[in-house]
Amino acid sequence: MQRWSEGPSGLVFGSDYNPEQWPAEVRADDVRLMREAGVNLVSVGIFSWGLLEPEPDRFDFDWFDDVLDDLHAGGIGVSLATATASPPAWLTQQHPEVLPVDADGRRVTFGSRQSWCPSSPVYRERSLKLVRALAERYGEHPALRLWHVSNELGCHNARCYCAVSATAFRGWLATRYADVAALNAAWATAFWSQHYTSLEQVQVPAHTSSFHNPAQALDFARFCSDELLGQHLAEKEVLRAITPDVPVTTNFMVGSQLNPLDYGRWAREQDVVSNDHYLIHGAYDDPRGELAYAADLTRGAASGNPWLLMEHSTSAVNWQPVNVAKAAGEMLQDSLSHVARGADGICFFQWRQSAGGAEQWHSALVPHAGEDSERFREVVELGAVLGRLGELRDSTVTNDVAILVDWQNAWAMESPTLPSQRVGHADLALRVHGLLRAAHTGADVVPVTAHPDDLAAVLSGYRVLVVPTLYLCDDTTAAAVTAAAESGTHVLVTYFSGIVDASVRVRLGGYPGAFRDLLGVRVEEFHPLSDGVAGELDDGTVGDVWAEIASAHDDTEVLVRYADGAAAGCPALTRRDLPSGAHAWYLGTSLDDEALAGLLRTVCTAAGVTPVAEASGPVDVVRRSSADGSWLFALNHGEEDATVVVRGFDLVGEVEVDGLELEPGQSAVVREV
Ligand code: GLA
Ligand code: GLA
Repeated sequence: MQRWSEGPSGLVFGSDYNPEQWPAEVRADDVRLMREAGVNLVSVGIFSWGLLEPEPDRFDFDWFDDVLDDLHAGGIGVSLATATASPPAWLTQQHPEVLPVDADGRRVTFGSRQSWCPSSPVYRERSLKLVRALAERYGEHPALRLWHVSNELGCHNARCYCAVSATAFRGWLATRYADVAALNAAWATAFWSQHYTSLEQVQVPAHTSSFHNPAQALDFARFCSDELLGQHLAEKEVLRAITPDVPVTTNFMVGSQLNPLDYGRWAREQDVVSNDHYLIHGAYDDPRGELAYAADLTRGAASGNPWLLMEHSTSAVNWQPVNVAKAAGEMLQDSLSHVARGADGICFFQWRQSAGGAEQWHSALVPHAGEDSERFREVVELGAVLGRLGELRDSTVTNDVAILVDWQNAWAMESPTLPSQRVGHADLALRVHGLLRAAHTGADVVPVTAHPDDLAAVLSGYRVLVVPTLYLCDDTTAAAVTAAAESGTHVLVTYFSGIVDASVRVRLGGYPGAFRDLLGVRVEEFHPLSDGVAGELDDGTVGDVWAEIASAHDDTEVLVRYADGAAAGCPALTRRDLPSGAHAWYLGTSLDDEALAGLLRTVCTAAGVTPVAEASGPVDVVRRSSADGSWLFALNHGEEDATVVVRGFDLVGEVEVDGLELEPGQSAVVREV
């Protein structure tokens, strides 16, 4: 298969390119400026269906031929979209049933984008016709580097509740369960009179009088992820048949909130994993910490392989309450943060800022002000820096610590009927990652579903494994965590983990059922804490969010106990020493940042984990390495100076360094000697 990063050597640099918004004359300028900036890959056609097929089966490719030819003449490669993201008006006019329906039974109308039901056979047929036509026309085009299937599948249409979806859901259930009796057992339908006598009675979990059956809701979430993956695979199959050598991707939306698609599962179907990431101001104390986490999770989904950042923003977006613009240097540093964590390409939405349309206030490489702007000058500078980083292409990141995450667990935790709405899997994983990062310790974020066959082996490769609030834990995952510990991996499990199985059935006999033996702890009752009701622990720290009536086995050391409240005297932090030499730690409550950082430091020290580099101050340090050498990324994202012990050649500043002193906002990428 050809390389997706083929073309000008080095890393990919580019953007979405939507030239149909502009008169054709603008294109010459676009290509000139792309060359000036060092752009070498653009995604075209993402939202072009309406213009490429203005009427059913009448394709208008002439204008698109010119776009591809001009790009190629300019030496710019193309990530060619299958253009199926947004069906044209004629399709939904002729077949209104293609439009998705929300949980309240409202059908969306045409006038935005991605308005299609993932289970619609009409949409599937029409979209594949378009994919075939594009592949036949452009499969041999010399600019073609990569197929870009659809766009952010599921961004707006992840869960559709229409009648067609309900039928498809029943079909999915029929393959999952041997018969309706098996479904009844898995869903515990004996409760609340939900017993089914035929699969035909099963509905999608749309608007109901009260709570949904949690197993039904989880199966629906699984089904929805699978339905969209089915669309991806159907498009991929058409492409593969016509262009077997051209790699295929679809851009993910990996962020810290594990969204409706199980990207651990999806990543296994990608020739290259690509991701879109936007800083979310307001929702996070440290939006750039969230970026770092998302990038590490993207690499985790990609099983450690290099990946492609398909979209981020040069400056502000247009979909937050206040769209914060990037200060000078932030675009470069954000880009380097992705490269540090395994991205072999940095792309943006979009090339030229729209004059009209829904995204006219979203930043771009060429802003409204035009090329005579600080923003475009920074783009040119970014291109130059990325050009110098080409030598680290294909290098990888190796860390001693893993944080285990699972989309299915996140979906199970969407339930409104848990013991507490203050517990969360994704938030805790992000917090642990941030504290490790602040301690200059690298962490991989490993999704369970990225490793259906080798999870135990993968986890056993780490010195430390953190399992943050893994409420739902299937048998395979439980066995893999245990096997890792038994082979010498130090494991830290936090409260409300290992509680239910893959069907959301409680593992009986005392919590945390899946990890009771490994941890040597047995919990009889949860006592979740209301906001503002944190309790004292007997080491002087404070336990928040969670407390529980628990006891430890004889071979388990109780390190900290609850000092007040219903759980007073019960273990809050325990450690069991395993024959492998590893420790199995259990944290039964939520600690503040200082105490949790201290615990992580203790766990890492006991396991022999060392920082990525000796450093002080608010600096991210990440190392990529290959047979050819190693490169240390040092990104000062804070407001104080930082120092890093490293020797070599800084490819950003183009200078030999022996120790770094970085001002706020300053970054270095050192080829180490
Ligand atoms: C009500 C219902 C019960 C049960 C409880 C739970 O009282 O009648 O079936 O759901 O709430 O609090
Ligand atoms: C997503 C989409 C793009 C664009 C950006 C804006 O990532 O894929 O088309 O809408 O959001 O941030």
